Amino acid sequence: MNIDMSNLPEHIGIIMDGNRRWAKKNGFSKIKGHREGANTLKILVENASKLGIKYLTVYAFSTENWKREENEVNEIMNLLREFLIECERKYTKEDYVVGFIGDSSALTQDIQDRMRRVSEKTKDKKGLHLYIAINYGGRDEIIRAVRKMVESGTKELEITEKRLSEYLDTSGVPDPELIIRTSGEMRISNFLTWQSVYSEFYFSDKYWPDFSIDDFKLAILDFQNRNRRFGGI
Ligand code: FPP
Repeated sequence: MNIDMSNLPEHIGIIMDGNRRWAKKNGFSKIKGHREGANTLKILVENASKLGIKYLTVYAFSTENWKREENEVNEIMNLLREFLIECERKYTKEDYVVGFIGDSSALTQDIQDRMRRVSEKTKDKKGLHLYIAINYGGRDEIIRAVRKMVESGTKELEITEKRLSEYLDTSGVPDPELIIRTSGEMRISNFLTWQSVYSEFYFSDKYWPDFSIDDFKLAILDFQNRNRRFGGI
């Protein structure tokens, strides 16, 4: 596959969708689907880093996902805990920056502590920046940002797009040029609502656990063949 290495998207967002349908199709439990999804993520992170992608933001748990059955939510939180333990073991030794977006205050204390530790230990690295969206919703992020602006005494005329961006969870991170969604669904589902206004979207029919590095490269190739005008001519 002939990807132009001099024209890689700097920031790619991924809506990892279809874990449960993958499980159903293969006769497995829902949690097995999520577990496979987490494995797919680990493989992709490693390959995205090798390719030279600078920022990767992945949607792991939305503000709406709490509506799922208690058992499934608990299983996803257990997977997240395992993932964080592995992040601390592996990514802190290698050249990765790991960060989180979303409202972490609703998560258990041990998960919050693990998130903080991984972020702290990796913050000065230079390699791939992996941002994991947990209890994340784009609208919720904007509301939290506006509240922080008001609390800090921002005056009416000081409210600009640049200023608001600085209060978002993604402060300092460039907007994603490419957003990939798997499983054939064609929606943004509250992911990077503010940041995605000029993103290119790529929809794959593959369920997330089946999404391979070749599928990832296909998405990049498709992106490279688009004509981005940003509202201009
Ligand atoms: C999407 O498939 C997956 C989720 C909503 C949550 C879980 C995500 C993962 C397990 C991947 C990464 C994990 C971690 C811990 C960082 P779905 O459940 O919406 O499937 P469906 O669309 O087929 O119902």
